[in-house]
Amino acid sequence: MKIDDIIKLKGRRKITMLTAYDYPTAGIVDKAGIDIILVGDSLANVVLGLDSTTKVGMTEMLHHAKAVTRAVKNALVIADMPYDSYQLNPEESVKNAQRFISEAGCGGVKLEWFDRCLEVTEKIISAGIPVMGHIGLTPQTVDKIGGFKCRGKDAQTAKSLIEQAQELEKKGCFAIVLECVPDKIAQLISKKIKIPTIGIGAGIYCNGQVLVINDMLGLFTNHTPKFVKKYADLSPVILKAVEDFKNEVIEEKFPAPEHSFTIKDEELKKINEN
Ligand code: KIV
Repeated sequence: MKIDDIIKLKGRRKITMLTAYDYPTAGIVDKAGIDIILVGDSLANVVLGLDSTTKVGMTEMLHHAKAVTRAVKNALVIADMPYDSYQLNPEESVKNAQRFISEAGCGGVKLEWFDRCLEVTEKIISAGIPVMGHIGLTPQTVDKIGGFKCRGKDAQTAKSLIEQAQELEKKGCFAIVLECVPDKIAQLISKKIKIPTIGIGAGIYCNGQVLVINDMLGLFTNHTPKFVKKYADLSPVILKAVEDFKNEVIEEKFPAPEHSFTIKDEELKKINEN
């Protein structure tokens, strides 16, 4: 999938996007035909056990982005720019974005809205790097926007979200993630801009949908937001497998003969003779 293919999908069919952070998962997501794989900075919460997405940096994000692109044959891979790579260091943002393309082989980067978002987005796009915007609930600046809750429930905030989307489109973003926005506001934004909107907790009217894979597979159980649908419940499946392994080892049922290697008796004899 190329950037243009994604843009052309708007109005034809819904765009599918999931996160992935490692080689085997990215391989499965790609095989299923998902359009966009996001190496999200949700890595911090659902893989690394950190309490904030601001706690991952370029080292972690590049490491996981490389594992994902190694597995992917068809999907467009987008990497989340970590907080310190562009919000704390706007001057370094182009250099950091470039690393996701040249070192990790990604097709573009995603930036969350912040006070200098338009300026940084413009610089990165001018360097030839495709940018996906992200507005609404922006976890990297959650303390500034009043917490983990739906954004745009009052007319003033909703209007500013519409303006942000329009400005990001003007700067040349190829798509925008809408996180935790009322469905009718997501519908308005989707109508007002030509580039696709991809919703998470933003209702049915977005041009596409994204979920965090560990949430939708039931692999991350510390906290499940309202907008998550669990398509599988893998946590108890893994627990049962691990308990079975533990019990079979203790009870000497594993490994069975079919999991073991053998040596011919005559060879064994030679050892005993020496
Ligand atoms: O980091 C992430 O997984 C994201 C999605 C929630 C869109 O930004």
